[in-house]
Amino acid sequence: MAIPLYILGQETDPHSEKGVDCPGELPAASDPGLVERARKAKEALGDRLFVLGHHYQRDEVIQFADVTGDSFKLAQQAAARPEAEYIVFCGVHFMAESADILTTPRQKVVLPDLAAGCSMADMATFDQVEEAWEALEDAGIADDVIPITYMNSSADIKAFCGRHGGAVCTSSNAKRALEWAFSQKKQVLFLPDQHLGRNTAVLEMGMSLDDCVLYSPHRPPKAEELRGRKMILWKGHCSVHGRFTAESVDDVRRRVPGVNVLVHPECRHEVVTKADHVGSTEYIIRKLEAAEPGSSWAVGTELNLVKRLAQQFPDKNVSFLDKTVCYCSTMNRIDLPHLVWALESLVLGEVVNQITVDDDTAHWARVALDRMLALP
Ligand code: 13P
Ligand code: SF4
Repeated sequence: MAIPLYILGQETDPHSEKGVDCPGELPAASDPGLVERARKAKEALGDRLFVLGHHYQRDEVIQFADVTGDSFKLAQQAAARPEAEYIVFCGVHFMAESADILTTPRQKVVLPDLAAGCSMADMATFDQVEEAWEALEDAGIADDVIPITYMNSSADIKAFCGRHGGAVCTSSNAKRALEWAFSQKKQVLFLPDQHLGRNTAVLEMGMSLDDCVLYSPHRPPKAEELRGRKMILWKGHCSVHGRFTAESVDDVRRRVPGVNVLVHPECRHEVVTKADHVGSTEYIIRKLEAAEPGSSWAVGTELNLVKRLAQQFPDKNVSFLDKTVCYCSTMNRIDLPHLVWALESLVLGEVVNQITVDDDTAHWARVALDRMLALP
């Protein structure tokens, strides 16, 4: 099958996270009045507006967020503000979709740049996942399998999980979601991040690597390889966290005596096993808040967050785990010009870049999201 190539910012694929062109007139990035313009637009919109900012957003954007958080906290926050008419989501497409699903029909969710997708979410398309499910049916095991998808997936993958009795999870509750899943069925199809699935299963739930099998949609495993495996891991990964290597951990330990290595569970298994602490972005922040003054930390997550944490805790020695710079390029698409453009358009009564999920998809995705929000 030929896979079309979409050039970021120039073409659109409504069934994926791939971005599209900005439909409006963006202010120039060099405009020195941008901060003031964003402030004024926010003031004019008052309580009608609620701005959510993921921890990986740029400083220039995060300063305007009413709430910052990881994807779990932001989903909860989006659901908790029924009075706000506009939710401006400074994050990526799948997060804005979840916000649309969790908010009331009256509320409108805006993503300042539609090109802010997620390469990991793109690694599991609806058709591929449907095909995988058919393969599980052909192998005679579909009745024993429950699908769990990481929040970092498109709404139709979440809906797929909802329809098949499954749930969503985030990096803060993956263990609880898997415990619940194994109370329902014998096997889990974990989408789309193989690393979060493997790390949670092996490091937090006592499974072995042999309990896991990798499911590549391009080269699916044979039926006998799928049978009896507790974790069927979709072959997806985060292009940012996937860059950290076991050598980066060894290297920082050589360079910084006594360093604590703190990484996100989207990192590869060999990185996570060498680290001292593993957890979601909220966990990483809490860990550094509680750290002793003078202690040293090498952090393996997105660079905007690590830089901010280094500034926030000057009494602690906080550095980036890798030597090379590694921002999430799609998170970085949301910049001040796009935010100003989105906010000023709202002031004029024009809702730009609205993210909507169709009713059927939203219903089933909400079923999967609600199962997550109800986890003990
Ligand atoms: P969390 O926000 O769940 O920590 O996920 C990290 C991430 O990669 C978001 O895109
Ligand atoms: Fe996707 Fe990784 Fe970027 Fe998060 S950090 S939005 S998972 S590519």
